[in-house]
Amino acid sequence: MSAVSRLDLQVASVGAEALDVMRIELVAADGGALPAFEPGAHLAVDLPEGMTRHYSIVNDNRERHRYVLGVGLARDSRGGSSYLHRQMRCGMRLSCSAPANNFRLDPHAASVLLIAGGIGVTPLVSMAHWCAARHKPWRMVYAARSRQRMAFGDDLRQLGGALRLHADDEHGGALDVAALVQSRAPDEQIYCCGPAALMDAVAAAGSALPDGVLHFEWFNAPPQAQTPERGDDGFWVDLRRSNDAVFVPPDRSVLEVLEQHGYEVPFSCREGLCGTCETPVCEGEPDHRDYVLAPSERASRGTMMVCVSRAVSQRLVLDL
Ligand code: FES
Repeated sequence: MSAVSRLDLQVASVGAEALDVMRIELVAADGGALPAFEPGAHLAVDLPEGMTRHYSIVNDNRERHRYVLGVGLARDSRGGSSYLHRQMRCGMRLSCSAPANNFRLDPHAASVLLIAGGIGVTPLVSMAHWCAARHKPWRMVYAARSRQRMAFGDDLRQLGGALRLHADDEHGGALDVAALVQSRAPDEQIYCCGPAALMDAVAAAGSALPDGVLHFEWFNAPPQAQTPERGDDGFWVDLRRSNDAVFVPPDRSVLEVLEQHGYEVPFSCREGLCGTCETPVCEGEPDHRDYVLAPSERASRGTMMVCVSRAVSQRLVLDL
C-alpha cells in the first residue's frame, strides 16, 4: 500500500453545496492543527472495500484547523462519491493522506485565469483564495450545465476577483473556449479543471501557447490511458538498486509486474492521476501516459509514473 502517512480526521460539518455537490468540512480528530497544504492540493480519502478517492481542498490554505472538500455525485460513480453522499454524517471519522499537490499554482505568475467546469471548480477555489490573499490579479470563468450545479459561488464572490458564470442552459450551449483562451492577457497563466471535453478544448485552443502557460488537473483518466499501442511488444525494466530485471508484457503495467515480483512501490490511484508511484528513471526513454508531469518534467526523463507509463526505448533502468 501507499507509504503516504495517514491522517485521522473527523467530519465537523456536512451539507448540500449545490445540486449533486456536497460540502464536507474535516478537522483533526485530536483537535490539533492540520498539516499545511498548497492551493490546488488534494486529499486521498480511504473508503470502504479498499477504495481510495482524491478530493481537492477548497478552502484558504492559510487555515490550519480544517480542510473543506467539495464532492460531486458522479453519474458513473464507482462507489466513492455515492458512498460519501449517502453515508457522511457529522462526527464520522475518515482516514486520509496528508495533502499532496499535482496542480501547483506558479507563485510568480503575474496574473491568473482559472477555467472551471462543474465540480472541477474545487482546486480552483483554493487558488482564488491564494490569489485574493496576495492581491494577485485573477479571474475565473466557471461553466456548468446549470446555475444550480455551481458550487462555492458564495465563497468565490466574496474574494473580489472577476468571476464569470456560464450556465449552459441559460446561454444556449457550451462555453466558447476558443474565444476565452484567445482573451488571455500576455502575462496570464491558465489553470483548468473540469470534464475532459472542456480540458481538451482548452488544450486545443492553447496548443500554440508557450510551455508553462497551461496547467490541468485531471480527476479521471480517459479510458485509453492504459491501452498498449500497436507495436508495443513489451519491454525490459532493469532495477538498478535491486540488481534485478523484469519483463513488462503489453497487457501489464510496470507497477503490476513489480508487484508480481514482490516489489513494494507506493501507489494510490493506479490511473496516472495522483503522482504517488513516481519513480526515478536512470536510463531509457519513458512513454509518459500520466496526467501529473508537466511537459518540461517529461522532457527531462527524470521520473515516470509506473502505474500507467511505458517505454519508448526497449529497456528502462529504474532506481529501485
Ligand atoms: S498510483 Fe497514482 S499516478 Fe500512479
